[in-house]
Amino acid sequence: MDREAFARQFGDAPEVTIVAPGRINLIGEHVDYLGGEVMPIAIDRQLVIHASPVSGDLCEIFPVGFGHDSPTKISLKDLHRREARADVWLNYIIGVLSGYRDAGVELPAFRATIQSDLPAGAGLSSSAALETAFALVVEALTGIEQDVVDRALLCQRAEHEFAGVPCGIMDQLAVGAGKKDHVMRLDCSDLTRSYVPIPEGLSILTADTGVKHALGDGEYKKRRSDCEEALSILEIDSFRNATPEQIGEAEKELGDRLFRRARHAVTEMERVERFSKALVENDFETLSISMKQSHESLRDDYEVSCEELDALVDAAYEAGSGVGLIGSRMTGGGFGGSTVSLVDSSSASDLKKYLEKFYREKFGRELNCFITTVVDGAHVLSPS
Ligand code: GLA
Repeated sequence: MDREAFARQFGDAPEVTIVAPGRINLIGEHVDYLGGEVMPIAIDRQLVIHASPVSGDLCEIFPVGFGHDSPTKISLKDLHRREARADVWLNYIIGVLSGYRDAGVELPAFRATIQSDLPAGAGLSSSAALETAFALVVEALTGIEQDVVDRALLCQRAEHEFAGVPCGIMDQLAVGAGKKDHVMRLDCSDLTRSYVPIPEGLSILTADTGVKHALGDGEYKKRRSDCEEALSILEIDSFRNATPEQIGEAEKELGDRLFRRARHAVTEMERVERFSKALVENDFETLSISMKQSHESLRDDYEVSCEELDALVDAAYEAGSGVGLIGSRMTGGGFGGSTVSLVDSSSASDLKKYLEKFYREKFGRELNCFITTVVDGAHVLSPS
């Protein structure tokens, strides 16, 4: 994305350019905050920040193409949480700046433009991309280089404390440490990760329903506390070593809701294991079943799906091999957002057309559907 917008806005060329991708999770949903394993990728829908340092303590930030007339100003002397609706997006940036300040970093003031083709509220981690991008702005302008895990933890803290979303660590690590053409397998109990190559001939199709999710609205928090309550009734520290049988035996004590939450956690953790193995072995049938079951579990047991997501996933499986489908499910936090489908590369554009038509006919709205390339995590492009 062009550097001209920065020059137009601020009158000179930017010193640094940061690229931060969005993420899609292939499987392992709503288990990162339970110490489970997840399998995300960084995607070629991304945020680009151009920035230059300035003297003083006033940062100027201009999001290009969002209808702003002038840059928004943040004083480094005043890094408080913003409450006004129009300003809440700044909390991701302010939270990150505040994290570096707390770590003893002397913050640089800067001017920055933000350009993005990553839709916000689509379950594709635009907020983690924003946090990570500004973390890299601070690092590039101060010469500090943090470990990718420490940076992700700092960004996660910004999300908890400034955006009010008690998220897990998946998004920040997928955005920060994704690897081109690979799926990350991240163990959220110790933050170790490995990478599995995307099999030859397999494409990824993202379908953004346009239904905006708002994880801060409390449902996400409720799922986390349901799980904590279930763990305490089961008298275990983690679902990691629990079995579906063990959860089944405790159904009465747990009660219906907590039983279903716990069943999702335990079965989803098992599905990650099977999915990961199937990816290595090119076992497309197991990939298909795992994704289908994952979606059903999120829909019925965890109750984080919505009508549009369910309809898209059902439509994909109904059309099945006729449109090269391997597997499909909702991705991300849910309550709207996107589905991810794995598809035979030679049929990816057929599946895209099919889903677009289906969605238009059923909901009378356009589906934002795109074939997705797997890219590297966030990085500084060019200190020029
Ligand atoms: C959101 C959170 C993540 C994760 C997913 C669900 O994206 O930010 O930490 O919990 O939901 O898997």
